[in-house]
Amino acid sequence: MKLNQKIAIVTGGGSGIGRSAAIRFAREGAKVSVADVDSVSGEETVSLIREYGGDAIFVKSDVKDSNQVKELINTTTKTFGGLHILVNNAGISNSEVRSVDLSEEEWDHVIDINLKGVFLGIKYAVPEMKKSGSGSIINTSSLLGLKGKKYQSAYNASKAGVVLLTQNAALEYGKYNIRVNAIAPGVIDTKIIDVWKQDERRWPFISKANALGRIGTPDEVANAIFFLASDEASFITGTTLSVDGGGLTF
Ligand SMILES: NC(=O)c1ccc[n+]([C@@H]2O[C@H](COP(=O)([O-])OP(=O)(O)OC[C@H]3O[C@@H](n4cnc5c(N)ncnc54)[C@H](O)[C@@H]3O)[C@@H](O)[C@H]2O)c1
Repeated sequence: MKLNQKIAIVTGGGSGIGRSAAIRFAREGAKVSVADVDSVSGEETVSLIREYGGDAIFVKSDVKDSNQVKELINTTTKTFGGLHILVNNAGISNSEVRSVDLSEEEWDHVIDINLKGVFLGIKYAVPEMKKSGSGSIINTSSLLGLKGKKYQSAYNASKAGVVLLTQNAALEYGKYNIRVNAIAPGVIDTKIIDVWKQDERRWPFISKANALGRIGTPDEVANAIFFLASDEASFITGTTLSVDGGGLTF
């Protein structure tokens, strides 16, 4: 078990990529705080982990709210005794409309969750990781943080912001042995892509728009998150790892 004695937080841990990462961490011996705005799905992830003897708690938290993020970090460190790994994974997409038709309120909402949420996670986790003597932060960007797509203005901007926030934090906290990396998933089979799946016209193209000609699974992304969290990635920081079946090259 490669994460034995490690203490981890996964935001957006109630579903999709976050759930897979939380389960993988627990299977590798980590104690896991599952954070999500959705209590039902978050508790479900914890039950799945406990079913095979893993150690996890659910902490209801909205990543765009600084008090809730502070509370998430406090509860985790009080319960488990420290913090080594943070996956800033919670995220939402925006309505598929042109920028001129996107409301300011929706713009703010997407940026608050997808970008400010990552900033808040870093802001409040780093002091605890310094106390623990090391840390690994993994931020979930996107293929759409590296490549523009029509009707994705807020999502594109938020996920591109995550890439440079990752580099910034890697530079600032490397001296404390805290590594900060991002992952950039392509199209992955989670509920965030339901709107595309229901689009009979575009789905045949979207579902094959990469070198491998298929969509990815949450577990395939969790493999990359686990790698970056583990000591196997001890000399990797500031990078954004594409997990997209070659989507960026397509
Ligand atoms: N699925 C894809 O194709 C894909 C591709 C690239 C990037 N991503 C990114 O992966 C991450 C995980 O998404 P997913 O695909 O697993 O989708 P998902 O919808 O299955 O999971 C997202 C989770 O985040 C939670 N969440 C939403 N807002 C929150 C908030 N304010 N605070 C805390 N939790 C919140 C949701 O309740 C949900 O459990 C997101 O950042 C998403 O942008 C997904």
